[in-house]
Amino acid sequence: MNTKYIDLISQTYDFPQDEFSLKNDELHFHNIDLMELVRTYGAPLKFTYLPKISDNIKRTKEWFNEAITKQNYKGDYNYCYCTKSSHFKHVLDEALKNDIHIETSSAFDIDIVNRLKDQGKITKDTYVVCNGFKRDQYVSNIANLINGGHEKCIPVIDNYEEIALLSKEIKKDFKVGIRIASEEEPKFEFYTSRLGIGYKNIIPFYEDQIKNNDQVELKMLHFFINTGIRDNAYYWNELQKCLRVYTRLKKVCPSLDSLNIGGGFPIKNSLAFEYDYQYMIDEVINQIKLTCEEEDVSVPHIFTEFGSFTVGESGGAIYEVLYQKQQNDREKWNMINSSFITTLPDSWAISKRFIMLALNRWQDKYERVLLGGMTCDSDDYYNSEQHMNAIYLPKYEKEDPLYIGFFNTGAYQETIGGFGGLQHCLIPSPKHILIQKNDDGSLSTELFSEQQKSEDLLKILGYHGI
Ligand SMILES: Cc1ncc(COP(=O)(O)O)c(C=O)c1O
Repeated sequence: MNTKYIDLISQTYDFPQDEFSLKNDELHFHNIDLMELVRTYGAPLKFTYLPKISDNIKRTKEWFNEAITKQNYKGDYNYCYCTKSSHFKHVLDEALKNDIHIETSSAFDIDIVNRLKDQGKITKDTYVVCNGFKRDQYVSNIANLINGGHEKCIPVIDNYEEIALLSKEIKKDFKVGIRIASEEEPKFEFYTSRLGIGYKNIIPFYEDQIKNNDQVELKMLHFFINTGIRDNAYYWNELQKCLRVYTRLKKVCPSLDSLNIGGGFPIKNSLAFEYDYQYMIDEVINQIKLTCEEEDVSVPHIFTEFGSFTVGESGGAIYEVLYQKQQNDREKWNMINSSFITTLPDSWAISKRFIMLALNRWQDKYERVLLGGMTCDSDDYYNSEQHMNAIYLPKYEKEDPLYIGFFNTGAYQETIGGFGGLQHCLIPSPKHILIQKNDDGSLSTELFSEQQKSEDLLKILGYHGI
């Protein structure tokens, strides 16, 4: 019987895969020698493999360009990066190498835009699409950007008061988008998203607040489905409803020329992940084109705001298994040297699953385990993988430490986990390593931030000088 971890993985999945391989029985990710990373920096650690960001942007642009060419679609495609999925400078620096645009969600985001403008990384040709609920500082920051001449800043109107608030502070003509409040999936706790304006109210809103307003021009309709761009009846139905609004609105509002289909491109969360990106994009473009033809209106330029897809697959987290607790004859808890709650908050908050693999000891026998974090919170655990209802890892050996990696964790985990701030049970944020590819294909690593120290946490807690 094959009971080695290597057999389990290679018999359950296609292995090796593009980004995962074994060398000397140790796991490599995009040719990063992960155990070498552990030997150099220790664990726990988080890392960002920056080239993956550019890679995913390029792939997406190619998929859209192919669909547009194939279908002779007469609109352009604009890739925006949704900054809230990771605001770090290294992420934006990498993303902005690829001639992209930016989507913001709050006031401070605009300060980031201004910094990047000062450095020439964002230019007057970069669209800055401003989503989110806008009041006070966010309105002022958007107004300052537009007043300063950034004509490609497009606030996307989320509620009935925003046009008046923006008009009060913007001293020029400006363009806006309107966000459609989508109907949520039937299993959701509520029917209509709180974000945006309901389908039926879009045209009355336009007639009431924009049509006769000389200062404001409607350019974009924005549509984002919380559950993502998926090949299911719910998604296609919502897209159709959105396209009906688009074509009706276009007939009364000639300046409308863009459709923003939001974020929600899925990322690889399992070694068995399957998603046909090209097919989905072909079909989205096809649906838009067909509906516009039926209604005899010109097709819109397309905008997307991919957050997870831009940055998710660049990130990883590595932990050491410190100890095994056998709490009954079936349940073995492998205790990691950090916390899931603080370092991978989506894993407990929304039961998100990531790719999880052992980094070493692939020739050893495997066992079924549960993974526990170091906080004394009973929710601090990880107990299954996306396509395997359990977790299997090389058998725990006190004298032969086991290291495990979680992959494609680069989106949202730092911001939601409060990077560098207070942490549950004061378990510190791990160190963070940036990995870049050199011109000759070799990799270089750089420590972005150290593991938090006791002083860092005590200072936040007010224990100055005590
Ligand atoms: C308006 C908007 N655009 C884009 C995104 C990015 O979504 P994702 O990270 O799934 O691509 C979000 C995420 O919540 C969003 O609210």
